[in-house]
Amino acid sequence: MSPAQSYTGMLLGILFLVSSVWAVSAGQAEYHVPDPRHLSKAKDLLQQFQLIDTHVDTPQVFRVMSRQPHDMIETMATGFPGHFDIPRAREGGVGGVFFTVWSPCQDQIGVDVGPDFLNPDDTVRDVLEQFDLINGIVEQNNQTFSLATTAEEMEHAFSEGKIGVMMGMEGSHMLGNSLATMRVYASLGVRYLTLTHVCHSAFASSAGGGAGTDGSALKPVHAGNGLTDFGRALVLELNRLGVMVDLSHVTPQTMHDVLDITRSPVLFSHSATRALYDHPRNIPDSVLERIGSKPGQNLGVIHSILTDLFMGPGNATIDTVVDHVEYIAHKCGKAHVGLGSDFDGMPSTVKGIDGDEDWPKLIAEFVRRGWTDDEIHGLVSGNLRRVMRENEQVKRTLVADLPSRAIYEKRTDLPAPNWGGPSGAYLPPKVRELVFHRRHDEL
Ligand SMILES: *[C@@H]1O[C@H](CO)[C@@H](O)[C@H](O)[C@H]1NC(C)=O
Ligand SMILES: *[C@@H]1O[C@H](CO)[C@@H](O)[C@H](O)[C@H]1NC(C)=O
Repeated sequence: MSPAQSYTGMLLGILFLVSSVWAVSAGQAEYHVPDPRHLSKAKDLLQQFQLIDTHVDTPQVFRVMSRQPHDMIETMATGFPGHFDIPRAREGGVGGVFFTVWSPCQDQIGVDVGPDFLNPDDTVRDVLEQFDLINGIVEQNNQTFSLATTAEEMEHAFSEGKIGVMMGMEGSHMLGNSLATMRVYASLGVRYLTLTHVCHSAFASSAGGGAGTDGSALKPVHAGNGLTDFGRALVLELNRLGVMVDLSHVTPQTMHDVLDITRSPVLFSHSATRALYDHPRNIPDSVLERIGSKPGQNLGVIHSILTDLFMGPGNATIDTVVDHVEYIAHKCGKAHVGLGSDFDGMPSTVKGIDGDEDWPKLIAEFVRRGWTDDEIHGLVSGNLRRVMRENEQVKRTLVADLPSRAIYEKRTDLPAPNWGGPSGAYLPPKVRELVFHRRHDEL
């Protein structure tokens, strides 16, 4: 190094020190604009490799904005005032998305589900309307979107220059306490189920932290604050159906209970880590230690989240997101990380990200930190597609198993003798005799 160079280096060093002192005194991390070389490399990689975002909430927002949510579909092409639409997804090099199938936890809209989750509500209707809406989004933009149900179909969509669309369902509170409902949802295209949203269900315990709460952990209602017995039956049924079990939003105990029994690799569709930011919704080290490629570990994959709320409200940047991903990669291996956003389901994003157009800036930071092309391929979709294929493979090995007969033990509506009409008027005589004979015995 020449004296002039070292002098310049020293000056830069002092400037750097001064600016970092300023940043610390202000208490705010700032986002650094990427080097143009890293950005252009990132854009090139996203032409070659499909980026699949595992959590996009846009379809449910249509329902907030219009009495006829289908009227909102055209905003996908013309521009949507949130985070996701087609022009921005194209600009950001997005090759695949999981649209979230969701309706709110009932307590969030003032409906009491009751102590056993049995009070009637409109959730199943509302969710079926959301399937219809997602189908409409895909069909009315069929030059751009292609509905996929397997890893291979997802890849095929990308090879045709389209954005592959899959469906993920966020919360078992939408199942009407029924495995049969889950089977139908799977037949409609659902390929992951987040075991809870921000409320507990008959199946599993949630970490809580929903909108309007102080973000502290939810008060437990189930013994152990993890999976229930019925929840265990659900996990095994999801394995049989080839639907990935998503562990974002659940309590650490629910995570552990699932890892104890699942036959397939798990997914965390949008999560951060507790070691770097202590929030009840984030993943603790004790769980990270169980994910990876070593013997006895679950081969699952953990995807990022792009809201600042779980990584430092008002303070998290693109760098913070990459810190969380690298922390997970350090614990679990680079073959076990991926990308999720939570676009259109969050009030604020990390600094540097305004919407789908900004994915290349995030990828540029991985380039800057020395991730190889192969590792970035794994990060943007390769690792997820592996987990999807492994879930599909488990489904094939279980094809001879019958659907689970498990029924929620608190249900009181079955058997349903009244379905036979007044005094069994609709029933063939021998059936009527059996039904009423049995009822008589039970009395
Ligand atoms: C913001 O992040 C920086 C860098 O990570 C950290 O030093 C600072 O304490 C954070 N400030 C707040 C208010 O959390
Ligand atoms: C797209 O939709 C139009 C109108 O319904 C239909 O004619 C066309 O075949 C569809 N294209 C694809 C690729 O599905």
